[in-house]
Amino acid sequence: MTDCLGDGAGDMTPMDLYEKLTSQGDTVRTLKTEKAAKADIDAAVQLLLKLKVDYKQVTGQDYKTGCPPSECVVSQDNGPAADGEDMVDPWNVSTTNAKGVDYDKLIVRFGSSKIDQELVDRIERVSGQKAHRFLRRGIFFSHRSVMLVILICSHLVLDAYEKNKSFYLYTGRGPSSDALHMGHLIPFIFTKWLQDTFDIPLVIQLTDDEKYLWKDLSLEDCHRYTMENAKDIIACGFDINKTFIFSDLDYMGASPDFYRNVVKVQKHVTFNQVKGIFGFGDSDCIGKIAFPAIQAAPSFSSSFPQIFKGRKDVQCLIPCAIDQDPYFRMTRDVAPRIGYPKPALLHSTFFPALQGAQTKMSASDANSSIFLTDTPKQIKNKVNKHAFSGGKDTVEEHRKYGGNPDVDVSFMYLTFFLEDDEQLEKIRQDYASGALLTGELKKRLIETLQPLITSHQERRKQVTEETVKQFMTPRPLNYSF
Ligand code: TYM
Repeated sequence: MTDCLGDGAGDMTPMDLYEKLTSQGDTVRTLKTEKAAKADIDAAVQLLLKLKVDYKQVTGQDYKTGCPPSECVVSQDNGPAADGEDMVDPWNVSTTNAKGVDYDKLIVRFGSSKIDQELVDRIERVSGQKAHRFLRRGIFFSHRSVMLVILICSHLVLDAYEKNKSFYLYTGRGPSSDALHMGHLIPFIFTKWLQDTFDIPLVIQLTDDEKYLWKDLSLEDCHRYTMENAKDIIACGFDINKTFIFSDLDYMGASPDFYRNVVKVQKHVTFNQVKGIFGFGDSDCIGKIAFPAIQAAPSFSSSFPQIFKGRKDVQCLIPCAIDQDPYFRMTRDVAPRIGYPKPALLHSTFFPALQGAQTKMSASDANSSIFLTDTPKQIKNKVNKHAFSGGKDTVEEHRKYGGNPDVDVSFMYLTFFLEDDEQLEKIRQDYASGALLTGELKKRLIETLQPLITSHQERRKQVTEETVKQFMTPRPLNYSF
């Protein structure tokens, strides 16, 4: 049991400890409810007490359920970045560092927990599968309460699992254009892996309302983008029997239970809190201020009575890039106050812009992005012309001093998409030693991306309007808990 909760308190942040304590409290409760063996309960309680002592030592405060260190989760900093700090929020990602955002610092600033090797090993043990390359390579690097999900799946709480305790996945997309770019694929690829691995239901929110509120787009455009984006998402291979995709513009009005949860969240978050989290100002429209509650609502299973049959206790796990975390810090703060479990999260790093890791790939700059609609020729041209290189100015210098894979965008993209760990490591070494030239590295990337995008396009062509309709119809899903 101790090994599942990881290391000692020495190198843990107060928020790490808080998360572990909360999750351990849940474990103790589960074991007691399920009338587990006394020895198991005693061991879990001992660990809980030890964590409480550690927490007091580190924070100087007594542990209190629902009250994280530094007052409350929602008051934690995610306002404008301080001077010299990386900027990361749902709308902007920027850093001055060519290697990209300092994700270790972000974990401390956001108060999340690092996905370390021990956690990756545990996920492998509990799933019985080799960890996805995004986990092996630290692309999914941070989490909140994922231990709880692992415990639910693990044999430690097998009784609980058998007695209807499991989890569901929730992710989403803000449809602001016809086409998704490669960065958008990251959470969807990983979510599909989680769905296949754990055989669980998934809900996908398409926030056409959000894009209407934030962008200069008509409601009709946003809704049309929703339907187009749904095709790309379906083409990622989600199981139609286990996946519900919905447009906010359609589902909000059709589901009283969803809307009730939105209103509950709205009642429990103040304007001051959303201002602190999202930086809203006096001239922002009131729709923006109310919107975070709508992104929060799918974290609660009772928002989908057709899927969870009215149950409000099914644990939610949200894979997304870390830019979406502010929404879910707010959600996790509200959840216990409205009687729901806090969603767990898995955060990914950003797929960088072609011009360099100082910012993320973004749909608003066509030259910074490779779109899922790009032709093989466009991909080749974009990579050759725009992908920032860590190579030296001349072939002679490159051969002599080697390139820098840490700032090289083509190499970074390969870490996301090249499956073979050994090949990737060889490319890294050859590039760093100068044996591999920038042109050769780019060629390697082009050869990796072209078939990947072409086969995505072929799968997308197979997605009919009827299939979209099926995915988007509120209905029961198949699952075994
Ligand atoms: P959106 O449309 O901006 O992004 C959709 C998903 O893609 C992730 N993402 C990226 N990941 C890696 N590298 C990038 N360059 C990159 N750009 C975007 C985002 O983190 C997100 O996971 N408000 C949301 C929609 C939403 C949502 C959710 C997202 C509603 N509910 C639940 C995640 C989870 C949005 O506009 O996402």
